[in-house]
Amino acid sequence: MDGNSTVRVGVLGYGNVGAAVVALIGENGDTIAARTGLRLEVARVAVRDLSKARTGFSGFTDDAASVVTDPDVDLVVEVIGGIDPAKSLVLAALEAGKPVVTANKELMAAYGAELFDAAAKAGVDLLFEAAVAGAIPLIRPLRESLAGDRITRVLGIVNGTTNFILTRMTESGQTFAEALAEAQSLGYAERDPTADVEGHDAAAKASIIASLAFGVRVVASDVYREGITGVSADDIRMAGRLGYVVKLLAVIDAVNGEVAVRVHPTMVPAAHPLASVREAFNAVFVEGAAAGELMFYGRGAGGRPTASAALGDVIDAAANLRQGTSAGVPGLASARIRPMDEVRSQYYLSLDVADLPGVLEQVAAAFARHLVSIVQVLQVGMGQEARLVLVTHTAYERDMQATVAELRDLDHVDRVGTLLRVIGGEQ
Ligand code: NDP
Ligand code: HSE
Repeated sequence: MDGNSTVRVGVLGYGNVGAAVVALIGENGDTIAARTGLRLEVARVAVRDLSKARTGFSGFTDDAASVVTDPDVDLVVEVIGGIDPAKSLVLAALEAGKPVVTANKELMAAYGAELFDAAAKAGVDLLFEAAVAGAIPLIRPLRESLAGDRITRVLGIVNGTTNFILTRMTESGQTFAEALAEAQSLGYAERDPTADVEGHDAAAKASIIASLAFGVRVVASDVYREGITGVSADDIRMAGRLGYVVKLLAVIDAVNGEVAVRVHPTMVPAAHPLASVREAFNAVFVEGAAAGELMFYGRGAGGRPTASAALGDVIDAAANLRQGTSAGVPGLASARIRPMDEVRSQYYLSLDVADLPGVLEQVAAAFARHLVSIVQVLQVGMGQEARLVLVTHTAYERDMQATVAELRDLDHVDRVGTLLRVIGGEQ
């Protein structure tokens, strides 16, 4: 950083997000300088494959480590993704006394504590607003604006790709594969889209939100996770008939000093604010003891929305660098992570059954034996096509799973369909 407050930025990765970060610095550099007195300059950009045709910058390198240690780089933006080599590059930058801005939730969810230690030791910023919910300012509100409140629950649609797929399956009758291909072409999906559709990406984000919301250490492997590959067009149609919308939801609860974090396909009442979050938009619904209900909404994926969040962090980190200070790192305590068996939800279940006298009684008895109370039951179809659709009162997961296991063994139950949790207005 020179005497004119020019901050030289090294960008690691020039994909959807990296290219947009560089473009935004070009587009908004003058405005940023006028507002903040900081002139951002993209000094170096690292990529993996130098033979790819690219526009928007010249002089790429495939030696990312050299960018991090380059004395002409003041601040590093990591938008490569994944753990290796992102982790060693981020650590090297911090150890060299350079602030780091990252969009890498996988890295923050797995190694956040170690990286925070390195940032604290070096006295520089490690900022990651872009890692959760794309463009939406969420990390800063959780760390700062809500620091005086007690957050009790967070519900989040935090993966754009899966929300896009579920929206298209619900509204346009697109198949799962068609909708996923479109999400990939729009730059929403991870390099390996399994991370999106199996819920790994949302679980990483949920663990970061839980850590900040409750001030406890939660890593991605603490999160109970189910993706959307088991959700059928039939489930979506039936949910609609019952007055619900299917969403991949992160559900983050503080319960008696413990934390429960889960990601799974969920039926949300059509009247709930999260039900109207469509396409690749994300929304995070926060319940604070004093603040009440808040909802953060915006574009959760895509190069430019994510770059917008990253650039906000770059400006913060650059301003701190100029003043020789840093934002500090979140203090995280230990807490018991409540196992999924001990979590309570409402459930939706569909059963293909023989259309005979006494079958409903057998089914109801299986629920009763495990203390799961039924709130709604509906028969759709008749004869060979008979299907029972049930919604329960709130019950323990272990009791519901035991019920499902017993239903699978019943003679007149031909098929047990997807088990979906019902969240938002529990009874
Ligand atoms: P892309 O796959 O589009 O881009 C990754 C970039 O990293 C590419 O330019 C690639 O180079 C480069 N790269 C990979 N390995 C190396 C390496 N060893 N050294 C130097 N460069 C390397 O990813 P995205 O831009 O979509 O995502 C980047 C990060 O942002 C990820 O952590 C992702 O989870 C996160 N994120 C993404 C969002 C999105 O909507 N896309 C939203 C929010 C966060 P090359 O071009 O040569 O292949
Ligand atoms: N693949 C991610 C998503 C990108 O679809 O939400 C944003 O983190």
